[in-house]
Formats: sequence, structure tokens, C-alpha cells
Amino acid sequence: MSIRTISTQPFQDQKPGTSGLRKKVPVFQQAHYLENFVQSIFDSIAAPKNATLVLGGDGRYYNREAIQIILKMAAANGYGKVLVGRGGILSTPAASCVIRKYKTFGGIILSASHNPGGPKEDFGIKYNSANGGPATETVTEAIFARSRTITQYSILDAADVALDALGASTLGDMRVEVIDPVSDYAELMESIFDFAAIRNLLNGGFRIRFDAMHAVNGPYAQEILERRLGAPAGSVMNAVPLEDFGGGHPDPNLTYAHELVDIVYGDHAPDFGAASDGDGDRNMILGHHFFVTPSDSLALLAANATLVPGYKQGLAGIARSMPTSAAADRVAQALNIPCYETPTGWKFFGNLMDAGKVTLCGEESFGTGSNHVREKDGLWAVLFWLNILAVRKQPVESIVREHWAKYGRNVYSRYDYEGLPTDAANGVMQHLKDSFATLVGKMFGKYSVKFCDDFSYTDPVDGSVSKGQGVRIIFTDGSRIIFRLSGTGTEGATLRVYLEAFEADVARHHLDAQVALAELIQIALQISELGSRTGREQPTVIT
Ligand code: G1P
Ligand code: ZN
Repeated sequence: MSIRTISTQPFQDQKPGTSGLRKKVPVFQQAHYLENFVQSIFDSIAAPKNATLVLGGDGRYYNREAIQIILKMAAANGYGKVLVGRGGILSTPAASCVIRKYKTFGGIILSASHNPGGPKEDFGIKYNSANGGPATETVTEAIFARSRTITQYSILDAADVALDALGASTLGDMRVEVIDPVSDYAELMESIFDFAAIRNLLNGGFRIRFDAMHAVNGPYAQEILERRLGAPAGSVMNAVPLEDFGGGHPDPNLTYAHELVDIVYGDHAPDFGAASDGDGDRNMILGHHFFVTPSDSLALLAANATLVPGYKQGLAGIARSMPTSAAADRVAQALNIPCYETPTGWKFFGNLMDAGKVTLCGEESFGTGSNHVREKDGLWAVLFWLNILAVRKQPVESIVREHWAKYGRNVYSRYDYEGLPTDAANGVMQHLKDSFATLVGKMFGKYSVKFCDDFSYTDPVDGSVSKGQGVRIIFTDGSRIIFRLSGTGTEGATLRVYLEAFEADVARHHLDAQVALAELIQIALQISELGSRTGREQPTVIT
């Protein structure tokens, strides 16, 4: 076996977004494309000789090929050991768990999260650091910079590694350990949650449905929910991971998880429903004929955290991304703990958790997590809910309604306009920024604009500043409209409009979110000129 040094030329499009480098599979299949990026990672992270890496992905199309390339490149670049999930599989939270548990130098995760998979669909790669979390912006910028100047990469000339049986082998001087992708993660979950209480709940006839959406969490959910917690077989649906996710869009929201939504709103609805995404880090929580918004879910987990053994000492603080509703802020205030508002993207939570400033964090985009790992964690959120339900013995809906009665309700919805011409989407954002001065003080029906800005964040731990994180229009009653361009889309531009109205009046808590937000939606369309500037009347997805 020999190391080959291969001459290459930079590609101009290897800029990692909020969740790593995401492109269509054919882009990744170009000669040297993946290799250039992997070498750029290795050149930028300055691992000591014989360092250990974790490697795994969500099993989507091109996962296996990419794993083999990365293993051979790691061997050629002086790594001592790679822990790789069996079959090349590791959910994103499980990869984070394994990096932390075995104190590895870092890890490479292959996923395009909730984006569809298949020969013409999306693939992605990202680097996570020793804390188990996504690389900081400094590291991703260094990787990008390296990708612009790269001239060669190294790869071991060797046969493929067998990935389907547990055990160790060698690749040149490097050791490859194929590990069970589920067991370390399942053990961590058992150490946090009251499995005995959840087992009792499930034995008592409480019915659950978990939709794995033919994505990575199928085997995790079957092991934990069915085998360890005793949910009846079949409680986990679409449990077999498929390279193309069965042709679906593995995003756990009301639009894409419609199969589950139909079940929980149907005649024989279970008591609890949940789903997770392609790589297992997102979650959607449903009750009997009831949807819990991710923003409310974060607030509820925080308010009930001490019912869970892993959090019985209380929370150090909470963090939420800027577009996430302020429901969690109200809980933080009541608990007298800090609530941090960060830019969109999980990486901003890492510093806060490493510094011990926050325990729970969440995003409106169906992401919730805690300091148990450094990624959001879909199945963890499901277990957190089940633990609360096992202790409180009330339906999901009444727990949420009691919460609103106590804290008020932050009525919330997000409108996504996908695949817009980039110029038009940029035009909407620029127009909004140009309008700040004229908007402040303006009345729109009962809403009066108090403040507008383009959100900027100074990290309280390292002082780094992230500018241009989204336009905020904040009204005097606390209601908000946020406009933001997606950083994860792979086609054209996606404009997200986030709407939030604070409703203290219990008599109005039964209102459908779209009804309660109707006026704010009109205001958003009016001030942004979205319709005329993009030619788009209706959003692609409403959540
Ligand atoms: C989206 C979500 C964001 C999340 C990211 C990765 O990013 O909005 O909250 O962190 O996916 O899952 P966006 O496309 O909005 O940039
Ligand atoms: Zn994901």
C-alpha cells in the first residue's frame, strides 16, 4: 500500500455554509471535488500525528463512497485511528456523542440534514471539533481559504475497508474501528432520562408513533423506543434507512411529515407523535390532534426540566436562535436564569455550552438540544417529552395550554419562499434595510414599530462578532417579524419570514396560529414588497 500525492486545482465553490458544505451529488462526484475539500479540512485543523477521528453519515446516496475516500485520505494524512459507524452510519447527535465520549480530535459527518437524497439530490460534509460541535467560523473559513489554493492531496492506494461488521482492521498505518452506531448514544440517553418511568407509561397503554422518515434515526428509535423502552413493535414507522429516504423529503415538519401528521390528526390517533430528519438532529413533537411549535417545545422543556433526572439540578441558562420565539425567554425570566439570543445555526450554542452558560438550547427550525452533546438532538427531544409525560400524566395538549396560561402564548409561524431568483431575494432584504428609518414609529393597525435592525451578535465567550444575521422588525407589544435568507438551500435563494405575536389573553389562546397572525402576515408582505419583487404570491412551506 502506498500513499499517492495527487495534483489538483481549486474549485471555486467550496464555501461551507451554516452546516458544512452542501451540494448536489453530481457536484461531489466530480473528480477531486470531495478529495479537495477533505484535504482542505486536514490542512486546516492541524491535528497532531496519530490523532483519532470519528466518521459517519446519515446513509444517504454517496455516503459509502465518500466514507471510503475519507478513510484512505485519513490514512495518508497521518491519522492514527478512525472510529467509523457500522455501514458508515452515525446520526449527527450520535457522532457528537462518540467524539465526546472517546475524546477524539474531531469528526467528519456526512449529511445534507433534511434535504432529499439520491443520485440527483443533496450530499454534504462537515467537520466537528473535539467538543463534538460544528467547527467554529474561524475553522470553516480556514478550510474554505485552503480550498481556494489547494494544489495536491494525499490518498492511500488500498482496497476498500469492510464496513458492515463490527471490529478493527488496519489501513496502512492507521487503525479503523467499525463501531455500533447506536449503543454509545443509547447509553447516553439512559443516563439522562428516567427510562423506568417511560417504560411504565408505555406499558400503561400510552400510544406513540415515531416517524423515522426512512432516515438515519430508524435503528436508533427502534433500539431505544421499542427494545429498551418497550413500545410495541411498529411504533417506529418508516424505520428502514434508505439512500433516497424513500423519495421523501426527510424534514420533520407539518408539510413533509404529512404521513405522520395524518395519523395524529386521524381517527385512531396515538397520544404522542414525533419525527426526526435525515441525520437525526431535528424533531417534531405532536400530541393527539395537536402540534407543538418548536419554539414552544423549547420553552416547555425548560419549564419542566427538573422532572428529568439529567436536569434535576436545574438549568444554567437557555439559548435560542434569534428567529425562535421569545417563549423560552419568559421561562428563563421566571426561573431567573439568562436567555441568550444567537444567530441561526447550532454552532453559536457551542461556545455558550462549553463555557457552562447554558444547558438547553433550541431553534424554531425543529432543533432542540442540551449540553449532553454539541449538536441538536431529535431523539433526545422525544425522550425529554416522554419523560415529562410519564411524570405529569397529562395529555400533550393540556400541558401546552397550561404553559400558555401561565406564561402567555407566543403565537408563531414561519413562511418559506424557496427557490427564488437570488437577485430578487437580495432585493427584498436590501429594500427592508433601506426602510428602517421610515418604519420606526409607524402604525399598522394595532401594531406600532418600535425598532428595526439587521441582527448582529457578539459572542459573550470569545467576543467574535457575526453581522447581517437577519432583519428584525419589533413592535411595541413584543410581536416580531423577521426576514432572513437561508444559508442551507442549494437552489436559488430561500427567503424565510418569521412571524410572532404575543398573546397574554387566555381567551384567545385557542385561535389557530394562521388566524391569530393574519394581520402580521399582511404587514410583512406590505413592508417587504415580497410579492411584487419576487413574483411569488404564496410561500412554499408554512410551519
Ligand atoms: C436552517 C435552519 C436553521 C438550522 C439549519 C441547519 O438553516 O433555519 O435554524 O440551524 O437549517 O439545520 P437556514 O436554511 O435557515 O440557513
Ligand atoms: Zn439535520
